[in-house]
Amino acid sequence: MRTVEWHDGKVRLIDQRLLPAEFRVVELMDVEAVARAIREMVVRGAPAIGAAAGFGMALAARESPAHSRDGLLRDLEDAAAILRAARPTAVNLAWAVERVLRRVVEEQDPRRMREVALEEAQAIADEDVATNRRLGEIGAAVVPDGATILHHCNTGALATVDYGTALGVIRAAHEQGKRIHVLVDETRPRLQGARLTAWELQQLGIPFTLIVDNAAGHFMHTGQVDLVLVGADRIAANGDVANKIGTYKLAVVAKENGIPFYVCAPTSTVDLSLRAGTEIPIEERPPEEVTALTLMGRPAVPEGVAVANPAFDVTPHRYVTGIITERGIAYPPFHLTLPPLVKGGTR
Ligand code: MRU
Repeated sequence: MRTVEWHDGKVRLIDQRLLPAEFRVVELMDVEAVARAIREMVVRGAPAIGAAAGFGMALAARESPAHSRDGLLRDLEDAAAILRAARPTAVNLAWAVERVLRRVVEEQDPRRMREVALEEAQAIADEDVATNRRLGEIGAAVVPDGATILHHCNTGALATVDYGTALGVIRAAHEQGKRIHVLVDETRPRLQGARLTAWELQQLGIPFTLIVDNAAGHFMHTGQVDLVLVGADRIAANGDVANKIGTYKLAVVAKENGIPFYVCAPTSTVDLSLRAGTEIPIEERPPEEVTALTLMGRPAVPEGVAVANPAFDVTPHRYVTGIITERGIAYPPFHLTLPPLVKGGTR
């Protein structure tokens, strides 16, 4: 099944908090439940939360008791605010919400408005799969046969509606018969690498080795990495990239060691309204995500310690070799190459 889908008037999600121990599907019936699922990371990954938010808007349209166009629009604006507030960094969330709203306001009849909300949400989900397949094919060109690829977080089918972005590039290279090996960063504190990327690669039969985050520098410095591939949650107009915490460190070490560092993201992740990465809001997540660690069945952190838990960091564009999108690869200077790539589309 897809990571996010509409089924029988409900939003269906794979509960990613439970993987790999348990594969459980949850069904959500109202917009508050969708916002909670995004906040609590039942669904996570920029494109996946965008698709979930799109369907959340469709649910809100159905739920609204409004009979008038204005009443329905007011309810949808309220739903949009709830969804936008769920997680601040990934721009795909706000992008999907705006896209559904924009489509709905084109209509006059409330019944038709409810229909197009769902049609647009479904289009966002369907396009995501097609986008990722194109992105994967384009990106596979930069993966040499025999390459060892360092990968951070989870950017696979689970982070999208299906197929994945950086992991989609890896998957496409593998499907083309290239012999590749993936070094999978654990990705503390939520272990998206160890739990989700490892699970996906295992199912795809792509060879990989799990490493702790702290080992990545060692592998790069000792010549054991040919390429770094990561996803993105928001990319500013100048090519600065917000992605999972730890990405910045990887980019700096990659440059120091002459290793290409590519960011793989759909154009919906590029936010041309922001000039630079300093303007990207960085989500701070609950301290319990860090302190919940156990070792030999016992708490690994003393009680009451102060914790900082930023979920993302910003990699300045000077560390980025290229940005792989479904419309081609942007190379520096990004402030000149990214905007035309993004604006080249229909939406
Ligand atoms: O906190 P998460 O798990 O939602 O963070 C996910 C990432 O940082 C991914 O790299 C990014 O969303 C791109 S996923 C295709």
